Amino acid sequence: MHKLVILLLTLEPILCAKDEFPADFLFGIASSAYQIEGGHDANGKGASIWDHYLRLNPALVRDSTNGDTACDSYNKYEEDVSLLADLGVDFYRFSISWSRILPTGYSNKINPDGVRYYNELIDGLVARNIRPMVAMYHWDLPKPLQDLGGWTNPLLSDLFEDYAKILFENFGDRVKLWITVNTNWMGYGDAQFPPLLNQSGIGEYLYVKNVLLAHAKVYHLYNREFRSSQNGQIGITVDGRWYEPATPRDQEAAERTRQFYIGTVANPIFGDGDFPKLVKERVDELSQEEGFSRSRLPKFSREEVEYVKGTYDFFGINIYTTFLTKDVEIEDGSEPSFGKDLKAELHHDPKWPESNSFWLKVVPWGCRRVLNWIKESYGNPPIFITENGFSDRGELDDVDRIDYFESYLNAVLEAIHEDGVQVRGYAAWSLLDNFEWTSGYSERFGLHHVDFADPGRRRTAKSSARWYKDVIERRRLDA
Ligand code: NOJ
Repeated sequence: MHKLVILLLTLEPILCAKDEFPADFLFGIASSAYQIEGGHDANGKGASIWDHYLRLNPALVRDSTNGDTACDSYNKYEEDVSLLADLGVDFYRFSISWSRILPTGYSNKINPDGVRYYNELIDGLVARNIRPMVAMYHWDLPKPLQDLGGWTNPLLSDLFEDYAKILFENFGDRVKLWITVNTNWMGYGDAQFPPLLNQSGIGEYLYVKNVLLAHAKVYHLYNREFRSSQNGQIGITVDGRWYEPATPRDQEAAERTRQFYIGTVANPIFGDGDFPKLVKERVDELSQEEGFSRSRLPKFSREEVEYVKGTYDFFGINIYTTFLTKDVEIEDGSEPSFGKDLKAELHHDPKWPESNSFWLKVVPWGCRRVLNWIKESYGNPPIFITENGFSDRGELDDVDRIDYFESYLNAVLEAIHEDGVQVRGYAAWSLLDNFEWTSGYSERFGLHHVDFADPGRRRTAKSSARWYKDVIERRRLDA
């Protein structure tokens, strides 16, 4: 056969019009255990840090609510699976509550009801041809593990490996897409968010190092014991805000901010195996000036660098918004803190369209830029957008959410077709209006409305659900 014909035949499955998603692109939708399940102490579940701290201090949450019942998905998962099937999604990204499986986190006494619950959910999905994408950890650490220091304790990575083994053994025959950790160090450098550690400039880095080791242990465990029989993929999810220089003079500040927020998590796995050079240099130098006996940034040993590097099948990223980044002066002798290390101030352009969350402005071009930055920084890894979404007050005719999704999905198409970024899939956040952490039920991200005043937690599809269903069906964006 002529060489050109062969080339065209090989390219055929990936060639498609610019407004079309590639044939193997996966559309999904996401949620997380504490935000939707409820059943906080049902049938043997242990307490997580969210159960614990919100009971101790309800004022941590703007409307003093909590996730005790949330969307009651613990009891209503069959209905949720039907909603997912109606949408026609290829995959459903949800998380497993560690303390529903292992009530204390560390004892190996498995709670059979937890295993039953997730088995039924997974079976329901598989029966409807929906692939489960499971996050092993989405912020709801078993409380007894917090008593040991939570993610600041290196022991956590071993305990996480033990927990992951139970997940692979029980669910890995049907779950082929795994996210180890939905990373977020809030609460490790401030007292606003459980676990309220308030160790700015120290807690964040201990969190990241131990989470990265935990992730790597699980990845190696999978390779050793499960990959050949289960044949799945493992990634980690990074919080992927885009940081744009506020002025041409702020290029360095913007790049520094990307390295501090994205690079500290991503570089060890997707880059050279260590924290970014720029982050190491800055924190090491400041720590010395501040009189610490060693850097506030923990070191990776040479073995650890090798152990963590390359432990991925895909790059998971949550993309919502963009910040303008400006260099700032730090006063001599100021207290050690993450903000001091960062030496940058973040703000929004007042012209950017707003949502109902102060931090979330609509900036689709930032989505394209962060995808390109990952491509350039880490050798074009396969990417799953594991969350993308917009908050409002729960309107049923949510036209602003549709505009948001349309503009961001368009940016994803540009990144794929024009920039060659390997985006393999996309999960809208979120299946249901749910418990938005310290904002409680006041910020709604759902494609389905949930009536939280109704004990039955009635779900109603919003306009965005119909719109998304249509996009998935046609695999393109135009009208
Ligand atoms: C990212 C988090 O993973 C998710 O839990 C949260 O609800 C959304 N951002 C919206 O804030």
